[in-house]
Amino acid sequence: MMMGNPFKNRDVVSIKDFSKDDLLYLFGVADRIENLSEKERGHLLEGKILGYLFFEPSTRTRLSFEAAMLWLGGKCLGFAEPRTSSVEKGENLADTIRTVENYVDVVVIRHYKDGAAKFAAEVSNKPIINGGSGTEEHPTQAMTDLYTIIKEKGVIDGLKIGILGDLKYGRTVYSLLYALSLFNVKIKLISHPMLRVRREIFFDLEKKIALSEHDNVEEVLPELDVLYVTRVQKERFPDLAEYEKVRSSYVVNLKILQKAKEDLIILHPLPRVDEISYEVDSSRYARYFKQTLYGKKLRAALLSSILDAKV
Ligand code: NCD
Repeated sequence: MMMGNPFKNRDVVSIKDFSKDDLLYLFGVADRIENLSEKERGHLLEGKILGYLFFEPSTRTRLSFEAAMLWLGGKCLGFAEPRTSSVEKGENLADTIRTVENYVDVVVIRHYKDGAAKFAAEVSNKPIINGGSGTEEHPTQAMTDLYTIIKEKGVIDGLKIGILGDLKYGRTVYSLLYALSLFNVKIKLISHPMLRVRREIFFDLEKKIALSEHDNVEEVLPELDVLYVTRVQKERFPDLAEYEKVRSSYVVNLKILQKAKEDLIILHPLPRVDEISYEVDSSRYARYFKQTLYGKKLRAALLSSILDAKV
């Protein structure tokens, strides 16, 4: 029997609101959409509109949602730059949401404040998707990351996964860690001591999943099946002098990768600044641009599930 659709009309605010079965359901939908004929796929979200409210810069999140919607025959409207909206005149978030929800079927919001997506979901009568909230969460990136791992490695359970970079301010890291905690994996957290995972979250995660902390990527690289790299989140540092101390503390290059397993895969939510050398892009390990394509497919699955299209 087919499982009921656990995403119907649902907000996607935190990855913690979803179970392993929910995620596996979503990956199944993504696969099924891919296998539809072009004609069937192009009608799935016909007549539906996605609204996007982006209070922070974005390339992949916004464009992959838009691409997914267009791929399935839907339409999009919104702003990628709040200065072009009435936010610039002082309109508050609640009033912006109450207006936009009258024009669309589902809303994706990115905001620099922690809690903004949760607040939007409380105010809105239409489903709200969190496209990144402050330093807190980026649930659809974590869904994309897990979908990429399943597609590229065939499994998630049993893998050793290294997460390298700015583990303190990177919101993708938090959502990814909670998503991975639903699986049986071993996680190596690799960072400069000043960029470690926030303590309250580390202690919470430690109860759910095997975690260890390391300063140096070379130390753990030979054991890893997946290496997830993130950039230093310059815009989140309260003090830029602190950013200067850590900005170039790690670089993944071909020399370091000589110690990697043959079938290691490297992921990155992107944007990359200088933490992965360009020479790695054409190596057998790189999957970060393929990951952006999985991002479109995953978001297509998410939108069609929330809007209850029959896939
Ligand atoms: C990330 C973000 O916005 O948190 N980008 C993304 O959506 N893929 C990562 C980052 O900005 O470093």
